[in-house]
Amino acid sequence: MASSSTTAQPTYELPWVEKYRPVKLDDVVGNRPTIERLKVIQEDGNCPHLLISGLPGIGKTTSVHCLAHGLLGDAYKEGVLELNASDERGIDVVRNKIKNFAQKKVSLPPGKHKLIILDEADSMTTGAQQALRRTMEIYSNTTRFCLACNQSNKIIDPIQSRCAILRYSKLSDEEVMKRLLEICSIEKVEYTDNGLEALVFTAEGDMRQAINNLQSTWTGLGLVNADNVFKVCDQPHPIDIRKMLMACYKADVDEAMEVLDKVWSAGYAAVDIIGTLFKVVKVMDAIPEAVKLDFIKEIGWTHMRILEGVSTVIQLGACLARLCKLQMDPVAFEAVKF
Ligand SMILES: Nc1ncnc2c1ncn2[C@@H]1O[C@H](COP(=O)(O)OP(=O)(O)OP(=O)(O)O)[C@@H](O)[C@H]1O
Ligand SMILES: [Mg+2]
Repeated sequence: MASSSTTAQPTYELPWVEKYRPVKLDDVVGNRPTIERLKVIQEDGNCPHLLISGLPGIGKTTSVHCLAHGLLGDAYKEGVLELNASDERGIDVVRNKIKNFAQKKVSLPPGKHKLIILDEADSMTTGAQQALRRTMEIYSNTTRFCLACNQSNKIIDPIQSRCAILRYSKLSDEEVMKRLLEICSIEKVEYTDNGLEALVFTAEGDMRQAINNLQSTWTGLGLVNADNVFKVCDQPHPIDIRKMLMACYKADVDEAMEVLDKVWSAGYAAVDIIGTLFKVVKVMDAIPEAVKLDFIKEIGWTHMRILEGVSTVIQLGACLARLCKLQMDPVAFEAVKF
């Protein structure tokens, strides 16, 4: 912060995801039982090797850093080695960097260990992971490892068996909403309720994405309402998609195709349209449960075809036609003269 006009420095504002990155375990939202376990470890001081896995943007890196700060306090700088996917992740890193750090003498508070944080550990080569096995054991009296990854199946079994495994689940809509409300009130963001709901809807439990989209909408378009959020997130508007589904539910293929044409000509990709169809149908109260199940099955098949490479409007049209057919009275359908 600039303290006087003569020494004024330009102030650089952090992106909100960094500005609002929790610094204490207590501030991390969601996954309460897991965070409580980390708090017990923090208080006890004897940290086991840890492996944290889960989807992106839900607080894995954040909680590992909170734990490291909680355990080591002022000694964080000397006592922690952090390696992430931006560093070289081959076997040489384990042989040189990790071993050197593990052998280094550092004065830490009594009973505390050095920590090696291996973020995005699923991008480590298998060779490097193999080399880590023995290192983890040899230096375990002075050094503990905290691994964070998205896919725990990419971590070799012997490493998994040396670690306490913590799985993070997706954050709930309420948890994301609560955090967004807090940020909106601190940053004095102008928003509408449906704007915040749209942020939560598009983020699907990914807090980083929700906060990023909030900041992009506010700085780019001003008011945070549903229309602006969908513009920023570049996703088809759920109201259009809902209209499409309602038309299918009424077996009105013409109307469904009309909406599809509108959404398609707005330039959305087939995979985004089918993805939004799924997200909308599963929360649509106007459609009875049994119909919903059939709809989801058809949407799933179309999603698979699109992912296999057939991402044309014809595929989407065929999906809508099948949804309409599901809803047609079989007797009336038989009576139609083709
Ligand atoms: N549980 C949470 N509570 C509060 N803020 C969160 C939480 N999860 C994520 N965030 C916000 O999102 C940002 C990114 O979180 P973080 O780096 O911990 O994600 P991650 O789980 O490590 O994701 P990745 O798998 O992509 O590395 C944080 O800076 C913070 O602003
Ligand atoms: Mg991370």
